[in-house]
This record gives sequence, structure tokens and C-alpha cells, in this order.
Amino acid sequence: MTKFFVARVLRNILLALSAAALTILSATAADGAKLAAQLCVACHGVHGHSESPMFPRLDGQTSEYIQAQLKGFREHARGETDARAYMWGIASQLDDDTVRALGDYYASQTAAPGRTGDAGLVARGRVVFEQGVPDNGVPACATCHGAQAQGNGAFPRLAGQHEPYLLRQIELFRSGARGNAPVMSAVAHQLNAEQAQAVAAYLQSR
Ligand code: HEC
Ligand code: HEC
Repeated sequence: MTKFFVARVLRNILLALSAAALTILSATAADGAKLAAQLCVACHGVHGHSESPMFPRLDGQTSEYIQAQLKGFREHARGETDARAYMWGIASQLDDDTVRALGDYYASQTAAPGRTGDAGLVARGRVVFEQGVPDNGVPACATCHGAQAQGNGAFPRLAGQHEPYLLRQIELFRSGARGNAPVMSAVAHQLNAEQAQAVAAYLQSR
């Protein structure tokens, strides 16, 4: 997607949102599905199964995590460059009921399977995910993200997520740009580049 195209999509979405603002207020679960199909689909794909690594997959993500992120965008607590450019405007139009409806909608979607990667890399990533890197003080990711990386409550699902998106987030946690997540900043500081690459390849393959 070119920058120009994205800017145009965003402008149209924001125009549609401001026109629809009154009907979006006090949304029900059905409204969550409707809004997702009208707006979020442009970037996050049908049922949240985004095809582009630019846009995180939302299918099967936990409702609690989605709600926390939307509120983070809305309150400008999650303010890295892409979040600012793509999600701040949209989130500013969503009230708590709508946020909950969207979270519940995506959580109820069956997550499509991941994409396989280089077998050696995936195998090394699996070890990092399941056991951490005790010598470097890296905790096992599975302790928080679940044995199958399926997520739980505030701990996001990572299984099947796009590898470039995962790597970008790890880098943002490390640099402090995604600054509202102290736990992950600490974890990201301890991971070296090769371990990050391996664990991201493993997760995308789930
Ligand atoms: C114009 C494109 C675009 C649209 C439309 C859009 N998003 Fe996003 N969204 C993004 C991008 C890009 C990111 C990743 C931001 C980053 O890398 O920090 C994102 C991130 C998110 C995240 C965080 C995901 C995670 O794994 O942390 C959630 C939740 C989200 N969007 C929900 C929504 C919902 C719900 C809608 C519809 C109301 C929506 N988005 C519409 C582009 C979009
Ligand atoms: C102590 C608990 C804990 C451990 C251990 C942990 N994480 Fe996390 N992780 C979290 C939490 C909490 C979040 C959500 C942060 C937020 O709300 O923004 C998160 C978010 C993430 C995200 C962002 C997901 C998204 O959709 O944007 C990635 C990527 C991630 N973790 C990777 C890892 C990896 C890789 C490991 C192991 C090396 C790991 N985590 C270990 C708690 C943990």
C-alpha cells in the first residue's frame, strides 16, 4: 500500500466516522461486528485476518487486550509513530461501549493458522518462547502469553501474528517508544537481535 493510498483511506475513514459518531455511541456487540466490517476491515482485514504485515492481526486476540490498546490509543498512552498516524484519530471516536463491542467481536473470531518460516529459525525461536534465555535473564514468553501463545486477558495472543509487526513491537518496547508497557520493555532489553528474529519467526508460524 502506498503512503498516498493510506492517507486517502484514512481521510475517508475519519470523514465517515465523524458523520457516524452519533450512531456509534452506546454500541452493542452487533454494532462491534458492523463497525469492524465497515471500518477496521480496510487495514486489519476480514474478521481481523490482515494480510499485510503493516497491520496487526486481530482475529482471536483477547478482548481485554484489544480494549486496553484502543484506550491506550485514545488516551495517547500508546504513542509510537504508526499508532499515532493510524490509530489515534480512529480511537478518539470510540466510547467505552464501542471499545468493548469491538474487543468482544475480534476475540470471538477463529484465528486463522500462521505461516511457516525457516525451520531452523523457528526451532530456535520455540526454545526462546518456551524456556526463555536464562543466561541473559530473558523469561519464558509462554509464562505470560500462554503455552500456545494464545494469550490470556491482558497478555496478548501472539500466535500467527505477522513476523515484521512482532519485530517492530519488540524494537519499540526496547527503545521505550511504546512506553506504556514496562514489563515488555524489560523483556525486550534482554533479548538480542537474533533471539528476537527467531522468536518472531516461531510465533508467526503458530
Ligand atoms: C488505516 C488503517 C487502520 C484502520 C482503518 C484501523 N487500524 Fe487498527 N492499527 C493500524 C496500525 C498500522 C496498527 C499498528 C500500530 C503500531 O504499529 O503501533 C494498528 C493497531 C491496532 C491495534 C493494536 C493491536 C496489537 O496487537 O497491539 C488494535 C487493537 C486496533 N488497531 C484496532 C482497530 C480497530 C478496532 C479498528 C476499527 C475501529 C481499527 N484498528 C482500524 C491501522 C488501522
Ligand atoms: C511477565 C509477563 C510477560 C512475559 C514474560 C513476556 N511478555 Fe510479552 N507482553 C506482556 C504484556 C502484559 C503485554 C501487553 C503490553 C501492553 O499492554 O501494551 C505484552 C506484549 C507483547 C507484544 C506486543 C503484542 C502486540 O500485539 O502488539 C509482543 C510482540 C510480546 N509481548 C512478545 C514477547 C516475547 C517474544 C516474550 C519472550 C521473550 C514475551 N513477550 C514475554 C507480558 C509478558
